[in-house]
Amino acid sequence: DGVVTLDPGYKNTGSCESAITFLDGEKGILRYRGYSIEELAEKARFLEVCYLLIFGELPTEEQLEKFHNDIKSQSHVDEDVKRILDGFPKSAHPMGVLSSLTSALVAFNPSSVNVDSEEDMYKAIVKILAKFPVLTAWTYRKRLGLPLDYGDDNLRYVENFVKMMFKKPSGEYTSNPLVVEALNKLLILHADHEQNCSTSTVRIVGSSHAGLFVSISAGIAALWGPLHGGANQAVIEMLEAIKADGGDTKKFMAKAKDKNDPFRLMGFGHRVYKNFDPRAKIIKKAADDVLDSLGIEDDVLSIAKALEKEALEDPYFVERKLYPNVDFYSGIIYRALGIPVEMFTPMFALGRLPGWIAQWREMRLQKEPIGRPRQIYVGENLRSFVPIEKR
Ligand code: CMC
Repeated sequence: DGVVTLDPGYKNTGSCESAITFLDGEKGILRYRGYSIEELAEKARFLEVCYLLIFGELPTEEQLEKFHNDIKSQSHVDEDVKRILDGFPKSAHPMGVLSSLTSALVAFNPSSVNVDSEEDMYKAIVKILAKFPVLTAWTYRKRLGLPLDYGDDNLRYVENFVKMMFKKPSGEYTSNPLVVEALNKLLILHADHEQNCSTSTVRIVGSSHAGLFVSISAGIAALWGPLHGGANQAVIEMLEAIKADGGDTKKFMAKAKDKNDPFRLMGFGHRVYKNFDPRAKIIKKAADDVLDSLGIEDDVLSIAKALEKEALEDPYFVERKLYPNVDFYSGIIYRALGIPVEMFTPMFALGRLPGWIAQWREMRLQKEPIGRPRQIYVGENLRSFVPIEKR
């Protein structure tokens, strides 16, 4: 009827019906396809969760094996992609590189764009699940000047990724089950979060029938921002800054509350969680466990805990219902696992990949119309053109 309702930031606007992820922000509940995040993080493997999110059910052993074999058969990344990677300066942020390389994959896999059947979709899905971990590991290794090659098809999905990241130039790799387990858990906790900024981006780009890879590339770009996935890097940088400044958490709390100061307490607050973020709870415990098991002491963990305690008692944060989110403690674990700070957001991207894929597939299967928000025009009324010499 021509009436447009204004909702900046889509705070109250549903963009789709979805059967993938259930989230209750008041109660702090998060479930993938009906399974609680707590149970999945404890018992599942990341690849099982990928399958669950994308296809709706936990796989049987045979289904998982077939899925994994299909992925393994597609892990090859064209050697020419290495030349594209070589063109980036070593100092380039890995998120920009990854978004570009993911987009570039289309040129090497043009058949992935037209997905007229579920079978076509499946082929594109398997390809991106196979190639994205390779691109992530290569992006990391290129920064360090290490050789770029592949992992080991005999390993599980997450361990294969860990090997691609950390194996020595000689190919030598010592498995550390603790690192693999911790990463498995973190990736599961990041795997989907319904219509967040990057996922909505993937759905909206995909809704024009642009292919899966470029939709994911746009999602990576959206995730990069510090208000979204980039917060995990920003949190560690903030904690380091507090440490370097002598550890005065109160000073930074005051900055976060000062409305004239753009500084925000990174890793705090969430659009939908108004009680607690269930992922943050699990990650906080995992951070303690991982540091204990690896025998690592990290000063920033105590700074983070002190900040959390102060914030949870501070009227500013209490009134606004601001709690630690998924990004608050995750970086402390990544760091303990030997992952450098600029790779934190790429780790989030790797975790979110199945969520983006599942949401894109659902959008295509539901034959959703092109995403096209409306606006309320507040600009000038009609005016006459003024020649340049008369302005
Ligand atoms: N520090 C200080 N004040 C805050 C913070 C914060 N981290 N977060 C929100 N506020 C204040 C905000 O200034 C506003 O105050 P007022 O009502 O006086 O204007 C009020 O709380 C509501 O905030 P909002 O910005 O309107 O809330 P939003 O739903 O638009 O934004 C958010 C949500 C996550 C972007 C925001 O809380 C934030 O910027 N947090 C810090 C960045 C961060 O940790 N992002 C990761 C989010 S979770 C994982 C992910 O998405 O990747």
